[in-house]
Amino acid sequence: MKKILIAGGAGYIGSICSEYMLDMGYEVTILDGLFTGHRDAVDPRAEFVHADLADRDKVFEICRKGEFDAVMHFAAFSLVGESMNLPSKYFRNNLCNAINLADAAVETGVKAFVFSSTAATFGIPETMPISESTPQKPINPYGESKLCFEKVLHWYSQIHGLKYAALRYFNAAGASEVHGEDHRPESHLIPIILQTLRGKRDKLMIFGDDYDTPDGSCIRDYIHILDLAQAHEKALYAPESGCYNLGTGNGLSVKEIIAAAEEVTGKKVNFEVAPRRAGDPPRLIACSELARKKLNWQPKHESAHDIIESAWKWHLKFPDGYEK
Ligand code: UFG
Repeated sequence: MKKILIAGGAGYIGSICSEYMLDMGYEVTILDGLFTGHRDAVDPRAEFVHADLADRDKVFEICRKGEFDAVMHFAAFSLVGESMNLPSKYFRNNLCNAINLADAAVETGVKAFVFSSTAATFGIPETMPISESTPQKPINPYGESKLCFEKVLHWYSQIHGLKYAALRYFNAAGASEVHGEDHRPESHLIPIILQTLRGKRDKLMIFGDDYDTPDGSCIRDYIHILDLAQAHEKALYAPESGCYNLGTGNGLSVKEIIAAAEEVTGKKVNFEVAPRRAGDPPRLIACSELARKKLNWQPKHESAHDIIESAWKWHLKFPDGYEK
């Protein structure tokens, strides 16, 4: 494997995976419509093509010209709340447009297709931790759109022989030295905490402290973005097609994340308890044994301290994010 097409390489996870793949010596082409990504997040060592996956002809043209060995697909909309108001936007992009990319991958003989899937495909599971055999019952169009595309890949592997890995991230967090998390608007816990600590926001709203968890706040499995990047590279060489859950296996509550951020930064987080956010499962923790075994994946940053510290450094280095 040498030549990799990264769709969505201007986004948070895509930009860091691009950087990782370039560091590993791969030749990277980034395709991004820049709907939610940032031009400045495109690694300068990569070739950049500004294109929309909805443009099927263009996607085929890029794949034919690039003769890629592998495709990594990150180009999706990912706001759960928005997906409840605009399901069509989510199914069109995350499913229909993704099919254009999968079709082009099949036509051009791509050897591996790595798909950015999500814990949101599980909905509110009855058992914890969540393994690959846990039933998938999404509770919003975002999760459903990702699950639908997992099924597309399953059938493409059966029918067309497309080899794929669907990587279901739990809570991606942290930063590299040069790329970090800059969503507009920001909805994720760690960047919001850090923005609050830098005085860019008045306070953090904790969405509910009356859950059935030890401190009442929601529990999530925060996984360092560089560990996710490593999993993508390993997934290129997976022995067979499949889906993998990626997390650390450690659940941390919102309040524990606040405490870790205070420890890293030496500052107090100003917060207020607000009502629960619709659609938030109380607890999501991954079992990632399959990825460790089959992909030989070895996450290196298992502590929240490490994750938050990397994000904090990035926020201090780039106080306006990707804004020029
Ligand atoms: N939270 C707050 N206040 C905030 C933001 C978040 O209390 O201002 C809480 C949430 O309620 C949740 C936790 O912090 O309990 C984490 O929230 P995030 O928004 O950072 O992440 P989510 O767990 O909601 O989202 C993650 C991924 C999504 C994916 C979802 C699936 O980032 O892409 O899991 O459940 F869709």
